[in-house]
Amino acid sequence: MTQRSFEHWMLDIQSRTEAALANHLPSAHIAPTRLHEAMRYAVLGGGKRVRPLLTFAAGELCNAKANQLDAAACAVEFIHAYSLVHDDMPCMDDDVLRRGKPTVHIEYDEATALLVGDSLQTLAFQVLADHAGTQQPAQKISMLSQLAHASGSRGMAGGQAIDLASVGLPLTREELEFMHIHKTGALIRCAVLLGAYSSDTPLDAASLERLDHFAKVIGLLFQVVDDVLDCEADTATLGKTAGKDAANNKPTYVSLLGLRDARQLANDLQQQALTTLQTFGDRAERLQQLTRYIVTRSF
Ligand code: IPE
Ligand code: IPE
Ligand code: MG
Ligand code: MG
Ligand code: MG
Repeated sequence: MTQRSFEHWMLDIQSRTEAALANHLPSAHIAPTRLHEAMRYAVLGGGKRVRPLLTFAAGELCNAKANQLDAAACAVEFIHAYSLVHDDMPCMDDDVLRRGKPTVHIEYDEATALLVGDSLQTLAFQVLADHAGTQQPAQKISMLSQLAHASGSRGMAGGQAIDLASVGLPLTREELEFMHIHKTGALIRCAVLLGAYSSDTPLDAASLERLDHFAKVIGLLFQVVDDVLDCEADTATLGKTAGKDAANNKPTYVSLLGLRDARQLANDLQQQALTTLQTFGDRAERLQQLTRYIVTRSF
């Protein structure tokens, strides 16, 4: 498969996901209209959709059909969108720009932003419960449980708590890794695993363990690159305020290692991820391409 075909595949999954997300979101004409409008504002028309792309790529590895993957892809993206709305609020990172637009609490108000996050979170579980393919009930319950773990205090929300408690602190490398694998890694890992679990023909235990290892590595890798881009890229390219980590005194891989070593770490993690995929052969080609994309992306 060529690079060109990867770009086509990406565009295809992105537009498929956009349509599915739009379909699951309540219409802005239904009461409470302002909340529904704000939910659609938060989710639609922006974002790279990396997590849905990972769900589809992992699903392909397990021979899942596209229509079996939509629900898991949307569920993870709804949790992610909610996490961004709350992450940007004044009580957290206090950001005014997201995906090239004013953040939800700026465009609407803080109370609405809070409720958008709450509503997107429950919508994620509703979509997964009501629409996930033809899996056996036990498999579906396992998927719901994985998403709950990845989102809650032992996953993303817990990582965010550590992030807030770490402002101004010189974290050790182990502490920083712990924070990153929770605040960002957990949901990325979940996106990959739900892709595999969406298939009627799940992987054998050893393959699932390898895929899970890959998923953990790219979860960390994703946030290392996010730290680097915050420092290296400009606001117009990022669609969010550049230099915000330093301005907010956040410990990051750049503040811990410096830009050059943080970049090097990203390259090492990329290599580790690609090596882990090798045993899957051609079936893992989309995951390989996505791994490279995560490292070379400009925003
Ligand atoms: C940004 O995530 C927040 C992190 C978890 C690092 P993305 O870089 O995936 O943001 P979008 O969805 O493309 O806007
Ligand atoms: C966000 O990390 C992690 C989330 C769970 C949203 P950041 O605070 O670094 O994300 P950005 O840089 O604002 O997108
Ligand atoms: Mg943050
Ligand atoms: Mg932030
Ligand atoms: Mg960041």
